[in-house]
Amino acid sequence: MLSRTPGLKTGVFRDIKMTYIIKGEFFMKIIEPELKTEDILIVDDRNFNQKNVCIITGCGSGIGRAVAIVAGTNDLTVVGLDINEFGGNKTVEIVKSFGGSMKFFKVDLTKDNELKEVVKQINDIGKIKYLSNIAGIQYINAIQHFPMEKYDLMQNLMLRAPFLLSQLTIPYMSAAGGGVIVNMASIHAHICTKHKSVYNITKFGLKALSQSISAEYEETKVRSFTVSTGFVRTPLALNQIAVQAEQRGITSDRVVEDVMMGKSRIKEMMSPIEVGNLIVFGMSRHGRYIMGGDLLADGGMVKTY
Ligand SMILES: NC(=O)c1ccc[n+]([C@@H]2O[C@H](COP(=O)([O-])OP(=O)(O)OC[C@H]3O[C@@H](n4cnc5c(N)ncnc54)[C@H](O)[C@@H]3O)[C@@H](O)[C@H]2O)c1
Repeated sequence: MLSRTPGLKTGVFRDIKMTYIIKGEFFMKIIEPELKTEDILIVDDRNFNQKNVCIITGCGSGIGRAVAIVAGTNDLTVVGLDINEFGGNKTVEIVKSFGGSMKFFKVDLTKDNELKEVVKQINDIGKIKYLSNIAGIQYINAIQHFPMEKYDLMQNLMLRAPFLLSQLTIPYMSAAGGGVIVNMASIHAHICTKHKSVYNITKFGLKALSQSISAEYEETKVRSFTVSTGFVRTPLALNQIAVQAEQRGITSDRVVEDVMMGKSRIKEMMSPIEVGNLIVFGMSRHGRYIMGGDLLADGGMVKTY
């Protein structure tokens, strides 16, 4: 059965046309935001050429796909990793339609052996100079009910994999004269909302990872930074609305208006391409002093009251 979601504001959710109601639960149908060339930031950087590779995890959807599009349009050779083969291949098509070059590898980021193998293969494609650790998942539950298997999965995917990929790529980056590692954090690397304990922990941890990589800059010539946004129009953000409504005992509308966007001065979710632009700017020569720092783009959620 299809139904219009009652009360959803099109300003906030202009990409959601319908909500499916299956067995009493909401499943948001997300329409890909329309992307125009003029929305993509082009940066003047002589290292942005097809000899240099930018590895992007989570490239099969949302923010990872957007980073792939911006990096590809900026002439980097994009190598995308994701467990979702269909989504990854779709990203390749989109990047190519914007004139970029991209290769996709199906990888489960929680499997060390797959990461080790794929990094060796990527080294044959070009010079590994950029790594964007984007992949992540959300699981919402109180600490007292949080399943430890979910804890392990999130820790492995969102903290261990970025660490291992950094460990595996830093030697190649150093050999290429230096590199940049971006870790996708969140406002949840600054504030902790309830029932997101493990997400909060991994995001705080990514800030420590970026700072630690940067602390070794003199030895490696690799700098790192995190990017922290509020809610971005992707499946990860939109699929949590119904769960939060149930757990907090409030309507989906109130989750969006009060919990998600209540503290944001801009009452519209960020678009994935805006995040992609920030990341590629930070990776470029113009971001060379961003060393262990965090690019906070949250509509005022953390710094204003
Ligand atoms: N959407 C938001 O509101 C928002 C806000 C701040 C930060 N973030 C962060 O941005 C990142 C991307 O989120 P998104 O919103 O684009 O989510 P998304 O769900 O659209 O994309 C996540 C991608 O990660 C991939 N993935 C999941 N498990 C994997 C595994 N084991 N191996 C390989 N790939 C795997 C998925 O297949 C998917 O393509 C996450 O780290 C998230 O925490 C998102």
